[in-house]
Amino acid sequence: MATFDLLLRGGTCVTSRGTRVADVGVRDGRVAEIGDLAQADAGEVLDATDLHVLPGCIDPQVHFREPGFPEKEDLESGMRAAVLGGVTAILEMPNTQPTTTSRERMEDKFRRAAGRAWCDYGFFVGASPENAHELAELERIPGCPGVKIFMGSSTGSLLVADDADLARVLASGTRRCAVHAEDEDRLKARRTIAEAAGHVRAHPEWRDVECAFLATRRVVALARAAGRPLHILHVTTAEEIAFLAEQKDIATCEVPPQHLTFVAPDCYERLGTRVQMNPPIRDLRHQEGLWRGITERAVDCVASDHAPHLLEEKARVYPETPSGMPGVQTIIPLMLHYVNAGQLSLEHMVELTSAGPARIWGMEGKGRLEVGADADITVVDLACARTVTDDWIASKCGWTPLDGMELRGWPVATIVRGSVVMRDGELLGAPIGRPARFV
Ligand code: DOR
Repeated sequence: MATFDLLLRGGTCVTSRGTRVADVGVRDGRVAEIGDLAQADAGEVLDATDLHVLPGCIDPQVHFREPGFPEKEDLESGMRAAVLGGVTAILEMPNTQPTTTSRERMEDKFRRAAGRAWCDYGFFVGASPENAHELAELERIPGCPGVKIFMGSSTGSLLVADDADLARVLASGTRRCAVHAEDEDRLKARRTIAEAAGHVRAHPEWRDVECAFLATRRVVALARAAGRPLHILHVTTAEEIAFLAEQKDIATCEVPPQHLTFVAPDCYERLGTRVQMNPPIRDLRHQEGLWRGITERAVDCVASDHAPHLLEEKARVYPETPSGMPGVQTIIPLMLHYVNAGQLSLEHMVELTSAGPARIWGMEGKGRLEVGADADITVVDLACARTVTDDWIASKCGWTPLDGMELRGWPVATIVRGSVVMRDGELLGAPIGRPARFV
Protein backbone atom coordinates (compact mmCIF):
# COMPACT_ATOMS: atom_id res chain seq x y z
CA MET A 1 0.00 0.00 0.00
CA ALA A 2 1.44 3.34 -1.05
CA THR A 3 2.08 5.78 1.75
CA PHE A 4 1.93 9.51 1.30
CA ASP A 5 2.54 12.48 3.57
CA LEU A 6 -0.63 14.11 2.32
CA LEU A 7 -3.51 12.76 0.28
CA LEU A 8 -6.17 14.91 -1.38
CA ARG A 9 -9.15 12.67 -1.95
CA GLY A 10 -11.76 12.88 -4.67
CA GLY A 11 -11.29 16.42 -5.98
CA THR A 12 -11.71 17.53 -9.57
CA CYS A 13 -8.09 18.03 -10.52
CA VAL A 14 -6.96 20.47 -13.19
CA THR A 15 -3.83 18.59 -14.23
CA SER A 16 -1.44 19.27 -17.09
CA ARG A 17 -3.06 16.25 -18.83
CA GLY A 18 -6.65 17.38 -18.43
CA THR A 19 -9.33 17.84 -15.81
CA ARG A 20 -10.67 14.76 -13.99
CA VAL A 21 -11.78 13.48 -10.62
CA ALA A 22 -8.74 11.93 -8.94
CA ASP A 23 -6.79 11.59 -5.73
CA VAL A 24 -3.46 13.39 -5.38
CA GLY A 25 -0.72 11.78 -3.30
CA VAL A 26 2.06 14.02 -1.99
CA ARG A 27 5.42 12.79 -0.74
CA ASP A 28 8.49 14.83 0.29
CA GLY A 29 6.91 18.08 -0.92
CA ARG A 30 6.20 16.82 -4.42
CA VAL A 31 3.25 15.36 -6.25
CA ALA A 32 3.97 11.62 -6.16
CA GLU A 33 0.85 10.20 -7.80
CA ILE A 34 -2.41 11.33 -9.37
CA GLY A 35 -5.12 8.70 -9.84
CA ASP A 36 -7.27 6.29 -7.90
CA LEU A 37 -5.48 6.06 -4.56
CA ALA A 38 -8.38 4.61 -2.56
CA GLN A 39 -6.13 1.97 -1.02
CA ALA A 40 -3.38 4.40 -0.04
CA ASP A 41 -2.39 5.45 3.41
CA ALA A 42 -1.36 8.99 4.34
CA GLY A 43 -0.17 11.07 7.28
CA GLU A 44 -2.82 13.64 6.49
CA VAL A 45 -5.94 13.36 4.36
CA LEU A 46 -7.83 16.27 2.90
CA ASP A 47 -11.29 15.45 1.58
CA ALA A 48 -11.63 17.33 -1.71
CA THR A 49 -15.02 15.92 -2.72
CA ASP A 50 -17.01 18.62 -4.57
CA LEU A 51 -13.89 20.81 -4.65
CA HIS A 52 -11.46 21.66 -7.46
CA VAL A 53 -7.75 20.99 -7.07
CA LEU A 54 -5.58 23.47 -8.98
CA PRO A 55 -1.83 23.80 -9.40
CA GLY A 56 -0.73 26.41 -6.86
CA CYS A 57 -1.62 29.91 -7.96
CA ILE A 58 1.21 32.38 -8.48
CA ASP A 59 0.92 36.16 -8.19
CA PRO A 60 3.84 37.40 -10.31
CA GLN A 61 3.65 41.10 -9.44
CA VAL A 62 3.39 42.28 -5.82
CA HIS A 63 4.92 45.14 -3.79
CA PHE A 64 5.53 44.16 -0.16
CA ARG A 65 7.27 47.41 0.94
CA GLU A 66 10.11 45.83 2.92
CA PRO A 67 12.46 47.50 3.55
CA GLY A 68 11.03 50.98 3.73
CA PHE A 69 7.34 51.16 4.57
CA PRO A 70 6.51 48.57 7.25
CA GLU A 71 3.33 50.46 8.11
CA LYS A 72 1.94 49.59 4.66
CA GLU A 73 3.16 45.98 4.40
CA ASP A 74 6.09 43.71 5.09
CA LEU A 75 7.23 40.39 3.68
CA GLU A 76 5.46 38.40 6.41
CA SER A 77 2.12 40.20 6.21
CA GLY A 78 2.18 40.25 2.42
CA MET A 79 2.78 36.52 2.14
CA ARG A 80 0.22 35.83 4.89
CA ALA A 81 -2.33 37.71 2.77
CA ALA A 82 -1.19 35.71 -0.26
CA VAL A 83 -1.83 32.25 1.25
CA LEU A 84 -5.14 33.38 2.79
CA GLY A 85 -6.14 34.20 -0.78
CA GLY A 86 -5.00 30.86 -2.24
CA VAL A 87 -1.63 32.01 -3.60
CA THR A 88 1.31 29.60 -3.23
CA ALA A 89 4.11 31.76 -4.70
CA ILE A 90 4.71 35.46 -5.32
CA LEU A 91 7.22 37.52 -7.29
CA GLU A 92 8.02 40.75 -5.51
CA MET A 93 9.10 44.11 -6.91
CA PRO A 94 12.22 46.20 -6.18
CA ASN A 95 10.72 49.68 -5.57
CA THR A 96 11.42 49.45 -1.86
CA GLN A 97 13.26 52.05 0.24
CA PRO A 98 16.17 51.71 -0.33
CA THR A 99 15.59 50.28 -3.78
CA THR A 100 16.51 46.61 -4.42
CA THR A 101 19.24 47.39 -6.94
CA SER A 102 22.45 45.74 -5.69
CA ARG A 103 23.70 42.37 -4.52
CA GLU A 104 23.76 43.58 -0.90
CA ARG A 105 20.15 44.74 -1.06
CA MET A 106 19.01 41.52 -2.73
CA GLU A 107 20.80 39.48 -0.06
CA ASP A 108 19.27 41.66 2.64
CA LYS A 109 15.78 40.94 1.27
CA PHE A 110 16.39 37.20 1.14
CA ARG A 111 17.67 37.32 4.74
CA ARG A 112 14.57 39.22 5.82
CA ALA A 113 12.26 36.68 4.15
CA ALA A 114 13.89 33.62 5.71
CA GLY A 115 11.58 32.13 8.36
CA ARG A 116 8.86 34.75 7.73
CA ALA A 117 7.52 33.63 4.36
CA TRP A 118 4.18 31.81 4.14
CA CYS A 119 4.64 30.95 0.48
CA ASP A 120 7.51 30.59 -1.99
CA TYR A 121 8.90 33.78 -3.47
CA GLY A 122 11.19 35.48 -5.94
CA PHE A 123 12.59 39.01 -5.78
CA PHE A 124 13.10 41.10 -8.91
CA VAL A 125 16.20 43.29 -9.09
CA GLY A 126 15.54 46.91 -10.07
CA ALA A 127 17.22 48.48 -13.10
CA SER A 128 18.78 51.94 -12.93
CA PRO A 129 21.21 53.84 -15.16
CA GLU A 130 23.83 53.30 -12.43
CA ASN A 131 23.57 49.51 -12.10
CA ALA A 132 22.98 48.68 -15.80
CA HIS A 133 26.47 47.17 -16.17
CA GLU A 134 25.91 44.81 -13.21
CA LEU A 135 22.45 43.52 -14.11
CA ALA A 136 23.70 40.47 -16.03
CA GLU A 137 25.18 39.23 -12.76
CA LEU A 138 22.42 40.43 -10.46
CA GLU A 139 19.65 38.70 -12.42
CA ARG A 140 21.43 35.37 -11.80
CA ILE A 141 21.20 35.60 -8.01
CA PRO A 142 19.28 32.47 -6.93
CA GLY A 143 15.65 33.41 -6.25
CA CYS A 144 15.69 36.31 -8.72
CA PRO A 145 13.27 35.96 -11.65
CA GLY A 146 14.86 38.87 -13.54
CA VAL A 147 15.20 42.62 -13.92
CA LYS A 148 12.37 45.12 -13.42
CA ILE A 149 12.41 48.35 -15.42
CA PHE A 150 10.26 51.39 -14.63
CA MET A 151 10.15 53.48 -17.84
CA GLY A 152 7.92 56.04 -16.15
CA SER A 153 7.91 57.32 -12.57
CA SER A 154 5.47 55.55 -10.29
CA THR A 155 5.79 54.74 -6.57
CA GLY A 156 9.46 55.12 -5.50
CA SER A 157 12.51 56.41 -7.29
CA LEU A 158 13.29 53.64 -9.80
CA LEU A 159 13.47 54.97 -13.35
CA VAL A 160 15.14 54.16 -16.66
CA ALA A 161 13.54 56.73 -18.95
CA ASP A 162 15.61 57.30 -22.07
CA ASP A 163 16.45 55.02 -24.96
CA ALA A 164 20.21 55.02 -24.41
CA ASP A 165 19.87 53.84 -20.80
CA LEU A 166 17.17 51.34 -21.73
CA ALA A 167 19.45 49.92 -24.42
CA ARG A 168 22.27 49.51 -21.86
CA VAL A 169 19.92 47.72 -19.45
CA LEU A 170 18.60 45.44 -22.20
CA ALA A 171 22.14 44.61 -23.33
CA SER A 172 23.12 43.51 -19.81
CA GLY A 173 21.82 39.98 -19.27
CA THR A 174 19.61 37.47 -21.00
CA ARG A 175 16.61 36.77 -18.75
CA ARG A 176 13.18 38.15 -19.63
CA CYS A 177 12.84 41.76 -18.39
CA ALA A 178 9.70 42.96 -16.60
CA VAL A 179 8.70 46.42 -17.83
CA HIS A 180 6.42 49.09 -16.40
CA ALA A 181 5.66 50.81 -19.70
CA GLU A 182 4.66 54.46 -19.31
CA ASP A 183 6.59 57.19 -21.16
CA GLU A 184 8.31 59.49 -18.65
CA ASP A 185 8.55 62.57 -20.89
CA ARG A 186 4.87 62.42 -21.72
CA LEU A 187 3.96 61.82 -18.07
CA LYS A 188 5.95 64.91 -17.05
CA ALA A 189 4.50 67.07 -19.82
CA ARG A 190 0.93 66.15 -18.88
CA ARG A 191 1.13 66.31 -15.07
CA THR A 192 -0.50 69.77 -15.15
CA ILE A 193 -3.72 68.03 -16.28
CA ALA A 194 -3.81 66.16 -12.96
CA GLU A 195 -2.91 69.24 -10.94
CA ALA A 196 -5.54 71.40 -12.64
CA ALA A 197 -8.24 68.77 -12.15
CA GLY A 198 -7.47 68.07 -8.48
CA HIS A 199 -9.64 64.93 -8.76
CA VAL A 200 -8.61 61.38 -9.49
CA ARG A 201 -11.06 61.14 -12.39
CA ALA A 202 -8.29 62.92 -14.36
CA HIS A 203 -5.83 60.09 -13.69
CA PRO A 204 -6.45 58.23 -17.00
CA GLU A 205 -6.27 61.53 -18.85
CA TRP A 206 -2.92 62.52 -17.30
CA ARG A 207 -1.46 59.03 -17.79
CA ASP A 208 -3.28 58.58 -21.09
CA VAL A 209 -3.36 55.74 -23.61
CA GLU A 210 -0.42 57.17 -25.54
CA CYS A 211 1.75 57.29 -22.37
CA ALA A 212 1.39 53.53 -22.14
CA PHE A 213 1.28 52.62 -25.82
CA LEU A 214 4.26 54.81 -26.74
CA ALA A 215 6.41 53.26 -24.00
CA THR A 216 5.37 49.74 -25.01
CA ARG A 217 6.25 50.40 -28.67
CA ARG A 218 9.59 51.96 -27.69
CA VAL A 219 10.67 49.14 -25.41
CA VAL A 220 9.60 46.39 -27.84
CA ALA A 221 11.66 48.05 -30.60
CA LEU A 222 14.67 48.30 -28.26
CA ALA A 223 14.22 44.69 -27.15
CA ARG A 224 14.17 43.54 -30.77
CA ALA A 225 17.41 45.42 -31.41
CA ALA A 226 18.96 43.82 -28.32
CA GLY A 227 17.44 40.36 -28.87
CA ARG A 228 16.14 40.47 -25.30
CA PRO A 229 12.80 38.97 -24.24
CA LEU A 230 10.37 41.20 -22.37
CA HIS A 231 7.32 40.93 -20.19
CA ILE A 232 5.01 43.96 -20.30
CA LEU A 233 3.49 44.36 -16.85
CA HIS A 234 -0.08 45.51 -16.24
CA VAL A 235 -1.27 46.21 -19.78
CA THR A 236 -4.24 48.60 -19.63
CA THR A 237 -5.11 49.64 -23.19
CA ALA A 238 -6.90 47.97 -26.09
CA GLU A 239 -4.15 49.37 -28.36
CA GLU A 240 -1.34 47.60 -26.50
CA ILE A 241 -3.24 44.31 -26.51
CA ALA A 242 -3.67 44.47 -30.30
CA PHE A 243 0.01 45.41 -30.70
CA LEU A 244 1.37 42.81 -28.27
CA ALA A 245 -0.70 40.03 -29.88
CA GLU A 246 1.70 40.44 -32.83
CA GLN A 247 4.89 40.45 -30.70
CA LYS A 248 4.61 37.06 -29.04
CA ASP A 249 8.08 36.00 -30.21
CA ILE A 250 9.68 38.68 -28.01
CA ALA A 251 7.14 39.89 -25.45
CA THR A 252 4.75 38.26 -23.03
CA CYS A 253 2.22 40.36 -21.14
CA GLU A 254 -0.16 40.46 -18.20
CA VAL A 255 -3.32 42.27 -17.13
CA PRO A 256 -4.39 43.07 -13.57
CA PRO A 257 -7.76 41.67 -12.49
CA GLN A 258 -8.76 45.10 -11.19
CA HIS A 259 -8.62 46.45 -14.76
CA LEU A 260 -10.96 43.61 -15.74
CA THR A 261 -13.30 44.67 -12.92
CA PHE A 262 -13.41 48.46 -12.55
CA VAL A 263 -14.36 50.95 -15.27
CA ALA A 264 -13.71 54.68 -15.55
CA PRO A 265 -15.28 57.11 -14.91
CA ASP A 266 -17.65 55.20 -12.59
CA CYS A 267 -14.91 53.69 -10.40
CA TYR A 268 -13.34 57.09 -9.66
CA GLU A 269 -16.70 58.60 -8.69
CA ARG A 270 -17.53 55.62 -6.45
CA LEU A 271 -14.16 54.72 -4.96
CA GLY A 272 -12.06 57.85 -5.46
CA THR A 273 -8.32 57.51 -5.00
CA ARG A 274 -8.63 53.93 -3.71
CA VAL A 275 -8.63 52.83 -7.35
CA GLN A 276 -5.82 55.20 -8.37
CA MET A 277 -3.01 53.12 -9.78
CA ASN A 278 -0.39 53.25 -12.50
CA PRO A 279 -1.12 52.61 -15.29
CA PRO A 280 -4.70 53.74 -14.61
CA ILE A 281 -8.06 52.03 -14.75
CA ARG A 282 -9.57 53.20 -18.05
CA ASP A 283 -12.95 53.27 -19.78
CA LEU A 284 -15.11 50.40 -21.04
CA ARG A 285 -13.48 50.26 -24.48
CA HIS A 286 -10.19 49.33 -22.84
CA GLN A 287 -11.74 46.89 -20.40
CA GLU A 288 -13.37 45.13 -23.35
CA GLY A 289 -10.00 45.15 -25.12
CA LEU A 290 -8.35 43.48 -22.13
CA TRP A 291 -11.04 40.81 -21.95
CA ARG A 292 -10.65 40.25 -25.69
CA GLY A 293 -6.91 39.86 -25.06
CA ILE A 294 -7.72 37.10 -22.59
CA THR A 295 -10.22 35.35 -24.85
CA GLU A 296 -7.89 35.53 -27.85
CA ARG A 297 -4.87 34.39 -25.80
CA ALA A 298 -2.85 37.58 -26.28
CA VAL A 299 -2.58 37.76 -22.48
CA ASP A 300 -0.13 35.34 -20.86
CA CYS A 301 -0.99 35.79 -17.19
CA VAL A 302 -2.79 37.92 -14.63
CA ALA A 303 -1.03 39.65 -11.72
CA SER A 304 -2.51 41.68 -8.91
CA ASP A 305 0.17 44.42 -8.78
CA HIS A 306 -0.59 44.31 -5.05
CA ALA A 307 0.50 47.82 -4.03
CA PRO A 308 -0.78 48.71 -0.56
CA HIS A 309 -0.97 52.31 0.67
CA LEU A 310 -2.61 53.64 3.81
CA LEU A 311 -6.09 55.15 3.62
CA GLU A 312 -4.76 58.31 5.26
CA GLU A 313 -2.36 58.72 2.32
CA LYS A 314 -5.21 58.03 -0.08
CA ALA A 315 -7.15 60.84 1.66
CA ARG A 316 -4.75 63.56 0.45
CA VAL A 317 -5.71 65.85 -2.41
CA TYR A 318 -5.09 64.24 -5.83
CA PRO A 319 -2.47 64.08 -7.37
CA GLU A 320 -0.55 64.09 -4.07
CA THR A 321 -2.15 60.69 -3.40
CA PRO A 322 -0.09 57.51 -3.91
CA SER A 323 -0.96 55.11 -6.72
CA GLY A 324 -1.67 51.47 -6.02
CA MET A 325 -4.15 49.17 -4.31
CA PRO A 326 -3.90 45.83 -2.54
CA GLY A 327 -4.83 42.68 -4.49
CA VAL A 328 -2.78 39.61 -3.57
CA GLN A 329 -5.52 38.23 -1.30
CA THR A 330 -8.33 38.78 -3.80
CA ILE A 331 -6.79 37.85 -7.17
CA ILE A 332 -7.87 34.18 -6.97
CA PRO A 333 -11.43 34.73 -5.64
CA LEU A 334 -11.88 37.41 -8.31
CA MET A 335 -10.66 35.18 -11.15
CA LEU A 336 -12.80 32.28 -9.84
CA HIS A 337 -15.74 34.66 -9.85
CA TYR A 338 -15.12 35.30 -13.57
CA VAL A 339 -14.94 31.54 -14.17
CA ASN A 340 -18.35 31.17 -12.51
CA ALA A 341 -19.66 34.09 -14.56
CA GLY A 342 -18.65 32.25 -17.76
CA GLN A 343 -15.97 34.78 -18.78
CA LEU A 344 -13.29 32.07 -19.05
CA SER A 345 -12.90 28.37 -18.32
CA LEU A 346 -11.28 27.08 -15.15
CA GLU A 347 -8.48 25.60 -17.28
CA HIS A 348 -7.88 28.98 -18.92
CA MET A 349 -7.79 30.62 -15.50
CA VAL A 350 -5.16 28.08 -14.40
CA GLU A 351 -3.14 29.01 -17.48
CA LEU A 352 -3.28 32.68 -16.40
CA THR A 353 -2.69 32.17 -12.67
CA SER A 354 -0.39 29.11 -12.51
CA ALA A 355 1.11 27.74 -15.72
CA GLY A 356 1.50 31.18 -17.34
CA PRO A 357 3.56 32.89 -14.62
CA ALA A 358 5.69 29.74 -14.19
CA ARG A 359 6.39 29.56 -17.94
CA ILE A 360 7.11 33.29 -18.34
CA TRP A 361 9.61 33.40 -15.46
CA GLY A 362 11.00 29.86 -15.75
CA MET A 363 9.86 28.76 -12.29
CA GLU A 364 11.13 25.23 -11.74
CA GLY A 365 8.54 22.75 -10.43
CA LYS A 366 5.76 25.36 -10.30
CA GLY A 367 2.56 26.08 -12.19
CA ARG A 368 1.45 22.56 -13.17
CA LEU A 369 -0.34 19.77 -11.36
CA GLU A 370 1.66 16.73 -12.44
CA VAL A 371 3.78 13.96 -10.97
CA GLY A 372 7.20 15.27 -9.93
CA ALA A 373 6.11 18.91 -9.60
CA ASP A 374 6.30 20.79 -6.31
CA ALA A 375 3.13 19.98 -4.32
CA ASP A 376 1.94 23.61 -4.53
CA ILE A 377 -1.82 23.25 -4.64
CA THR A 378 -4.77 25.61 -4.38
CA VAL A 379 -8.02 23.85 -3.46
CA VAL A 380 -11.11 25.86 -4.38
CA ASP A 381 -14.84 25.68 -3.80
CA LEU A 382 -16.50 27.02 -6.92
CA ALA A 383 -19.94 26.97 -5.29
CA CYS A 384 -19.05 29.12 -2.28
CA ALA A 385 -20.27 32.73 -2.42
CA ARG A 386 -19.01 35.30 0.04
CA THR A 387 -18.77 39.06 0.32
CA VAL A 388 -15.30 40.60 0.42
CA THR A 389 -14.84 42.98 3.34
CA ASP A 390 -12.02 45.26 4.49
CA ASP A 391 -11.80 43.42 7.82
CA TRP A 392 -10.89 40.16 6.05
CA ILE A 393 -7.78 41.78 4.55
CA ALA A 394 -4.55 40.60 6.20
CA SER A 395 -2.47 43.25 4.48
CA LYS A 396 -1.27 45.92 6.86
CA CYS A 397 -3.09 48.57 4.82
CA GLY A 398 -6.37 46.95 5.98
CA TRP A 399 -8.60 47.72 3.01
CA THR A 400 -9.52 46.42 -0.43
CA PRO A 401 -11.16 48.13 -3.41
CA LEU A 402 -13.49 45.10 -3.55
CA ASP A 403 -15.04 45.79 -0.12
CA GLY A 404 -18.75 44.90 -0.32
CA MET A 405 -18.46 42.84 -3.53
CA GLU A 406 -19.95 39.35 -3.49
CA LEU A 407 -17.73 36.80 -5.21
CA ARG A 408 -18.60 33.20 -6.11
CA GLY A 409 -15.65 30.79 -6.02
CA TRP A 410 -13.20 30.78 -3.10
CA PRO A 411 -9.95 29.07 -2.16
CA VAL A 412 -10.45 26.71 0.78
CA ALA A 413 -6.91 25.35 1.16
CA THR A 414 -3.44 26.56 0.21
CA ILE A 415 -0.67 23.96 0.09
CA VAL A 416 2.99 24.92 -0.30
CA ARG A 417 5.33 22.01 -1.16
CA GLY A 418 3.02 19.62 0.65
CA SER A 419 2.40 21.75 3.77
CA VAL A 420 -1.18 22.92 4.29
CA VAL A 421 -0.67 26.58 5.23
CA MET A 422 -4.29 27.72 4.89
CA ARG A 423 -7.46 25.71 5.50
CA ASP A 424 -10.97 27.21 5.57
CA GLY A 425 -9.59 30.70 5.98
CA GLU A 426 -7.26 29.84 8.87
CA LEU A 427 -3.49 30.10 8.72
CA LEU A 428 -1.82 26.79 9.70
CA GLY A 429 1.66 25.72 10.70
CA ALA A 430 4.71 27.88 10.26
CA PRO A 431 6.05 30.14 7.50
CA ILE A 432 7.91 27.52 5.44
CA GLY A 433 8.25 29.56 2.22
CA ARG A 434 11.53 29.43 0.31
CA PRO A 435 13.02 31.20 -2.69
CA ALA A 436 11.62 29.73 -5.89
CA ARG A 437 14.11 28.27 -8.39
CA PHE A 438 14.38 29.93 -11.78
CA VAL A 439 15.80 28.10 -14.79
O1 DOR B 1 0.02 51.95 -8.99
C1 DOR B 1 1.13 51.50 -8.82
N1 DOR B 1 1.64 51.30 -7.59
N2 DOR B 1 1.88 51.22 -9.90
C2 DOR B 1 3.19 50.93 -9.76
O2 DOR B 1 3.85 50.79 -10.77
C3 DOR B 1 3.83 50.86 -8.45
C4 DOR B 1 2.85 50.59 -7.40
C5 DOR B 1 3.39 50.83 -6.01
O3 DOR B 1 4.45 50.29 -5.70
O4 DOR B 1 2.74 51.53 -5.24
